[in-house]
Amino acid sequence: MLCLVSPTDPAWVAHALGDLGALLIDHAHCEMKAASNALSLAARHPERVDLVLALTDLAKEELDHYQRVVRMLASRGLVLGTPPVDEYAAALRRAAHEKSVIPGPPSSLVDRLLIGALIEARSCERFKLVVDALPEGVEPELRAFYTELFACEARHFRTYVDLAKAATDDERMVDTRLAELAEKEGRIVRDLAEQSTRATVHG
Ligand SMILES: [Fe+2]
Ligand SMILES: [Fe+2]
Repeated sequence: MLCLVSPTDPAWVAHALGDLGALLIDHAHCEMKAASNALSLAARHPERVDLVLALTDLAKEELDHYQRVVRMLASRGLVLGTPPVDEYAAALRRAAHEKSVIPGPPSSLVDRLLIGALIEARSCERFKLVVDALPEGVEPELRAFYTELFACEARHFRTYVDLAKAATDDERMVDTRLAELAEKEGRIVRDLAEQSTRATVHG
């Protein structure tokens, strides 16, 4: 799906459906991180007006998702605690510092945008997996929400890739780097799946 090279293990779907409350709690944290990451990137590059406008628009959408998940948690009597360490995002950032096939150090802006794209792609894939796995008539509100988010995250993926291409005059380099980071992301997802059976969006 999108640029992902490693599909999610079907066992993840069973864990997610087995504990939708835990999934929703992790999901809320993901939306807040998506918003704050977009805002921090925009704040670091105020000279890039197109990037600032695109990322602040994206952050507004992520905050809207966050509020909606928080409301769903409240209606289920679930409490959102402090966010746990995000092993997935941390591993992605570490992987971006590994040796690259790109000659010269890849720009940190391009890498941050492409990591954002990969996170969106994985969210998109997993929301669709949940929608497809929910039995007909079960959790209709969640199904409708995740169907909407699936399309939204696909659009966010495209926004990040487009911004990465606009940030450099070498579009082929961006494609090569995205493919390289996607390989690493696939490895990270497989490793995390072996380490944990928690219902998390990216673990
Ligand atoms: Fe979102
Ligand atoms: Fe998103």
